[in-house]
Amino acid sequence: METIIRNTGDADAFRLASDILRKGGLVAFPTETVYGLGGDGLRSSSSEKIYAAKGRPSDNPLIIHIADVDDVRRLASEVPPAAENLMEAFWPGPLTIIFKKKPEVPDTTTGGLDTVAVRMPSHPDAARLIRESGIMIAAPSANTSGRPSPTLASHVIEDMNGRIDMILDGGPVGIGIESTIVDMTGDTPVILRPGFITKKELETVLGEVLIDKAIIEPDPALRPKAPGMKYTHYAPKGKLTIVEDAYSGTSRPSDSQTFTGTAPSSAVTERINTETQRCASQGIKAAVLTTEDRAHLYTCGNIITLGSSGKGTTVASRLYSALRECDSINAEEIYSESFDRDELGFSIMNRLLKAAGHRVITV
Ligand code: TXA
Ligand code: MG
Repeated sequence: METIIRNTGDADAFRLASDILRKGGLVAFPTETVYGLGGDGLRSSSSEKIYAAKGRPSDNPLIIHIADVDDVRRLASEVPPAAENLMEAFWPGPLTIIFKKKPEVPDTTTGGLDTVAVRMPSHPDAARLIRESGIMIAAPSANTSGRPSPTLASHVIEDMNGRIDMILDGGPVGIGIESTIVDMTGDTPVILRPGFITKKELETVLGEVLIDKAIIEPDPALRPKAPGMKYTHYAPKGKLTIVEDAYSGTSRPSDSQTFTGTAPSSAVTERINTETQRCASQGIKAAVLTTEDRAHLYTCGNIITLGSSGKGTTVASRLYSALRECDSINAEEIYSESFDRDELGFSIMNRLLKAAGHRVITV
């Protein structure tokens, strides 16, 4: 299949993309979090095409994107008052809400669940595409299953060229990690996937909010409520290891950790240097993931930087690009510093730990 690639500024871009969506085809498009791989959320055959293009198991449901708050009622059989408050506070924006679904939403889109994930993106190109096509767009992140989510159109081209009908290039996305997912179908709201909107922010609107235990502790006996959270994800091809100080260790990965602004100690730097020097002596290509202000501390020739320390937003926006860079330089072993697990850091560490397959060296 030849994939049409258009800049969102091109005159015919949205008309072409809308036609494709209305005919049941697939269009990748920018959102404020990551690029999405869109198809008609109410058409089974489109969802099937999405699973096929991504190489994704079809029990892993899709998020449906809307452009008008009222459209939630076309998908959800019930909208609890607390969910209304959430929508009011955070939509349009990087928040996905789980509702009980209406029968019109195909099981293919929801992976057989009786619930549906809905998000109203704030990115103007995403909103325009939904409105102009008149389609409620089911869209997972536009990466091949298991790879880091795309934050640039070039990432989408890398993974999806030849596999989908069209890619809309809207430049780099702003946030860089996926939306927060909150399940509003039970008595107490539960975070199923941490994201840009933090637990604290949700609590200002909702009061008590829980976090799905299975995403805090990588215990294979616990089954995450968001099916996608059980799959290995974001992993670079090389072996990624996180090196961190004992006090921020994964033995205490609770959401209540608040090591705000703690920089990694010199023990972390030394250990990473020791590992990459060992790699050099064994002819193994190594890379280091650190922040711009700390890059000079490392002796390794391949330093990949992730924004600046203490600025979670810059780290989030660079994270997936950095993981892809590890692949483009063919790094075989990658050593990363760790980040505080408070607020946005909790979401960043959720992704980084998954990318590392929870391989952590504590010093
Ligand atoms: O920021 C985002 O959310 C991006 C952009 C494109 O909107 N989308 C995204 O989609 O990250 P995806 O498919 O890569 O991740 C969706 C996650 C998966 O872990 C999936 O299992 C979960 O949402 N999910 C979808 N529907 C669900 C449901 N009804 N109940 C529980 N989890 C659900
Ligand atoms: Mg994804």
